[in-house]
Amino acid sequence: MDKLKIGIIGSGGIAQSRHIPTFQQLEEKVSIEGVYDINQDRAQEVAASFSIARVYHNIERMLEEVDAVIICTPNKFHADIAVQALNRGIHVLCEKPMAITTEECSRMIEAAEKTDSVLAVAFHYRFGPEAQIAKQMMENHEIGDPLVCRFQALRRRKVPGWGVFTNKELQGGGSLIDYGCHLLDLSLWLLGDPEPLEVMAKTYDRLSKAPNLTNEWGQFDHTTFNVEDHVTGYITFENDITLQLECSWAANIKEDTEQLSISGVEGGFQLFPFELYQAKYGTLLNSTAQINKIDNIEPYYQANNFVDACTGEAELIVKPEQAMKVTKIVEALYRSSESGQSVRFEENPTSFEESY
Ligand SMILES: NC(=O)c1ccc[n+]([C@@H]2O[C@H](COP(=O)([O-])OP(=O)(O)OC[C@H]3O[C@@H](n4cnc5c(N)ncnc54)[C@H](O)[C@@H]3O)[C@@H](O)[C@H]2O)c1
Repeated sequence: MDKLKIGIIGSGGIAQSRHIPTFQQLEEKVSIEGVYDINQDRAQEVAASFSIARVYHNIERMLEEVDAVIICTPNKFHADIAVQALNRGIHVLCEKPMAITTEECSRMIEAAEKTDSVLAVAFHYRFGPEAQIAKQMMENHEIGDPLVCRFQALRRRKVPGWGVFTNKELQGGGSLIDYGCHLLDLSLWLLGDPEPLEVMAKTYDRLSKAPNLTNEWGQFDHTTFNVEDHVTGYITFENDITLQLECSWAANIKEDTEQLSISGVEGGFQLFPFELYQAKYGTLLNSTAQINKIDNIEPYYQANNFVDACTGEAELIVKPEQAMKVTKIVEALYRSSESGQSVRFEENPTSFEESY
């Protein structure tokens, strides 16, 4: 069978550390035709260091020669580039978040449907072993109806010091849209994709604006920093499910903390490390799982699923409608913090109103 020809758009950190090496591991199924970056010098360097044959000077030219593209640009450009590719019938794996606004996500989905192309979003946490076990457990109703979900995505003093992560116009926000979105996606997936009813959030930015912040992930300009570095939020869903969240790039805490847990009627679990609590024999039994960690297995499974979905051999695991729901909730959390009010969703999936 012919190899899937792919192009890489945006050749910065995530393209180099994840997508290019991962797709090169899938060389039996995939060939990386070339890279495109508005920074052509970077594209040249990356092509040379990964032995990629071509550097494209514009996206249109790339789209004439590939079957699929991997979008690794700042968030602001995800939607327009994806629509451009999808309109030509080119499959897309887009880095997370899918886009900054729900309206952009809708345009992406419309273009994918029109040309019957695959549109995947790189929420790679779903492909981790703990997440896979938890998903099967939820599908087997091991903890009964889910009631309360909570996640923490907390980094200690690690504001990204590269790229444009602290620029609101280009990224749409800070720690929530960048880091918290992974755990939010995972929560929604494990909960079975419930419809959100209302959100309430509070964002903070005072730490990163402090000129003397000690930062472990490089330098950033605190005078131009205009995104949030810490968020707390509360979401209610249909079926009486609620979710509490906290995420940060720069928390003053003992150590980085990443956790997701769900309590259901008949049991509960936490993911990291995996533990299951089940109401049995008149008590709550605790079980743990022996998980063999394999480095970079999540991106590998993600890439494999994308390629197999493009060739019609597998169902996409991260569906675009699910990724759009993450953006819709993130957008509403930001709106809630700005207004100081909760935001209630209407029936129309692309709109929401503030409730008073
Ligand atoms: N899945 C994850 O865990 C994860 C981790 C890091 C970053 N990301 C996502 O990946 C994307 C890129 O992040 P990064 O860390 O690689 O950033 P980066 O700044 O290191 O790289 C971005 C690259 O895109 C290029 N670029 C900018 N605008 C462009 C355009 N219009 N067309 C083509 N190229 C353009 C820049 O020149 C740069 O080389 C973001 O959406 C980010 O949220 C995801």
